[in-house]
Amino acid sequence: MVFDRKSGATAWLGIAVVSVAFMGVYAFFVALARTPVIGAMFGDPDFFRTALVTHVVLAVVIWFLAFILFTMHYITASVPTGKGEFRAVDGAAIGVALIVATPFTGPAHPILNNYVPVLDRWLYLLGVAIFFIAVAVAFLLRARATLDSGANGNGPALITRGSLLTAGLALISAILCFVISWYGLSTGPVMEESQRRFYFEVLFWGGGHTLQFANGLGLMAVWSILASKLTSENILDDKVTKGLLAVIALFIISAPLQYFIYDHDSVELRSLFTSLKGWGLSFGPIILGAAIFVKRKNLSENPVASRGLFLSMFLFALGGAIALTLSGSDTRVPAHYHGVIGGVTLCFMTLAQLAVTENGWLTVSEKWKKIQITLYGMGQSLFVIGLYIGGTRGAQRKTFGTSQQLDDAMKYFGMSVMGIGGLMAVTSGVFFVIFMLKSFNAGRKKAL
Ligand code: HEM
Repeated sequence: MVFDRKSGATAWLGIAVVSVAFMGVYAFFVALARTPVIGAMFGDPDFFRTALVTHVVLAVVIWFLAFILFTMHYITASVPTGKGEFRAVDGAAIGVALIVATPFTGPAHPILNNYVPVLDRWLYLLGVAIFFIAVAVAFLLRARATLDSGANGNGPALITRGSLLTAGLALISAILCFVISWYGLSTGPVMEESQRRFYFEVLFWGGGHTLQFANGLGLMAVWSILASKLTSENILDDKVTKGLLAVIALFIISAPLQYFIYDHDSVELRSLFTSLKGWGLSFGPIILGAAIFVKRKNLSENPVASRGLFLSMFLFALGGAIALTLSGSDTRVPAHYHGVIGGVTLCFMTLAQLAVTENGWLTVSEKWKKIQITLYGMGQSLFVIGLYIGGTRGAQRKTFGTSQQLDDAMKYFGMSVMGIGGLMAVTSGVFFVIFMLKSFNAGRKKAL
């Protein structure tokens, strides 16, 4: 599939690459601040928290949603990008710019609530709101083309199109949860200044959980595209696909309805969303992953696509396995996150590499492409294992420097492994950004 330089595919890939670049810079700092010895140099809690907030939003919200939109445009590249779609890209770019700029325009007031953490400044909140509206509009404008892309029977597989469309449904459902929760908060009792963290936890809890369905479905769409490059066989039977996506869609549609069962700020509602994610999120990737694994012998040898696909499945499985061991709030929680979201990130990087190669824009050798993917896979796995070891010894989440109390050899060892793995993953991220910038530049020159 080849796409135009002046197209929605290139535009969304551009936004995805900018967010991964900034996410990587902040990941570097938060990882350093948690690495033994080096971490002691970081004394300012606001710096760490601001870096962590920006890291998380750029990574788990913007990088993921922008790349899912790239994938929608990539599989429908033959359908020209409309004016409205380009306006949506502009809106998303403005949203990202406001988010990235906030820490450089005065005190950031970081708040470490989950899923969509916040810099408590109107500039940042405006950026987040504009971004979500822009991506929702972009999804709706590309949905028709995605649905029709399989109409003539030789387009992308049903699992690819269906996963992307259901990801769009999850995004709309998540935004509905944000709006219902915001309405509940603005019509409910006024909260004290000291309750700002609780305010944002309530605002983003339901929608944040629902958004993870979009990320999980994005992973399924990209796994199925990578698998389709390795075999002409249909990876997942269409009947199974329809059943699977219908069940996932039920979980997604039920999300906003929870607010009509329990109060928006109740503990019951929060645990209902945790179970919704716990039960509804993993079986889709597990079934598709198993189908790909069963057919691995029929998959042709494409060094980049197959390595990216199987390393992504390994990371996702590692993060999933860790989820079964979680109790309390130690670093096993981010270990779990970085396994599953590392798996998503790795397959997205693999497809990006393949897409710009197909366009004739990326000319680096296969060897370097494999190095980038392997370095990320191994680095993020080490990072996850290090956080896991630290967590089994009680290392706490979202702490840094001396406040980590690395008072035990295994904790020290675990967080050192985290630091080494983090450095490898960030280095691989730098290679990825360089590959993409070289590709955009080659595309620009080709168009001259
Ligand atoms: C490039 C490699 C990466 C490094 C070195 C890195 C580093 C870190 C560190 C050190 C933390 C703080 C953990 C804590 O103190 O509890 C963190 C948190 C987080 N990171 Fe990353 N990260 C990386 C990639 C990613 C990616 C690719 C994503 C998602 C796409 C991501 C999403 C998150 C999230 C959601 C949290 C918050 C975890 C929590 O709430 O406990 N990170 N990251």
